[in-house]
Amino acid sequence: MPVALTHHFPNQTLDKMKSITKKNILMLVAGLFIIAQFFRIDKTNPNVEPAKDFIALTQPPLEVENMLRSACYDCHSHETSYPWYSNLAPVSWWLKNHVNEGREHLNFSVWADYNAKKADHKLEECFEEVAKEGMPLKSYPLTHPEARLSEEQRAKLVTWFKQTRQQLNYQKEESK
Ligand code: HEC
Repeated sequence: MPVALTHHFPNQTLDKMKSITKKNILMLVAGLFIIAQFFRIDKTNPNVEPAKDFIALTQPPLEVENMLRSACYDCHSHETSYPWYSNLAPVSWWLKNHVNEGREHLNFSVWADYNAKKADHKLEECFEEVAKEGMPLKSYPLTHPEARLSEEQRAKLVTWFKQTRQQLNYQKEESK
């Protein structure tokens, strides 16, 4: 550092300035964090109509039902259970976004509303996603150990999605 500068800003002053900036930044972050807590997510689940529910309609074996409930239903149904950290912004926003997007793409609670073509396509995607370990989302089992699927469990889930799709027996337009 040039002599002139050190002269104007002795080391002590420089240190003080640095610590003030650091403090300001910390206070700003803390302030933003507190303000963020006021933007709460909506945790009310829409009504569940059992007659429309995927599990109720397809009656999977208990083991498969348990996997669906513990590894898929939090994001793909109206039966979401929100963990304690869903009270904490910005984690809560991230989590709610998964639920909204998850339901938008695939909602087991309104399965009966899907026409045959859509149901066929969703089932196909289900076994593809589970087989290639795309679902459940990678971040999910970190905090939901019961959603960690073994190879064997994955295989069972895939087989069951495939069977259900076969039973649906949707014939594509061109093959009619
Ligand atoms: C933590 C939330 C979460 C969990 C748990 C989860 N999903 Fe998803 N799923 C999503 C989100 C978000 C999307 C949409 C964006 C994407 O594809 O990444 C999605 C997309 C999908 C799609 C694609 C649908 C389409 O039409 O594009 C399928 C199929 C799917 N999930 C099946 C499953 C299955 C089966 C399980 C359980 C084994 C599961 N998901 C668990 C959040 C989740």
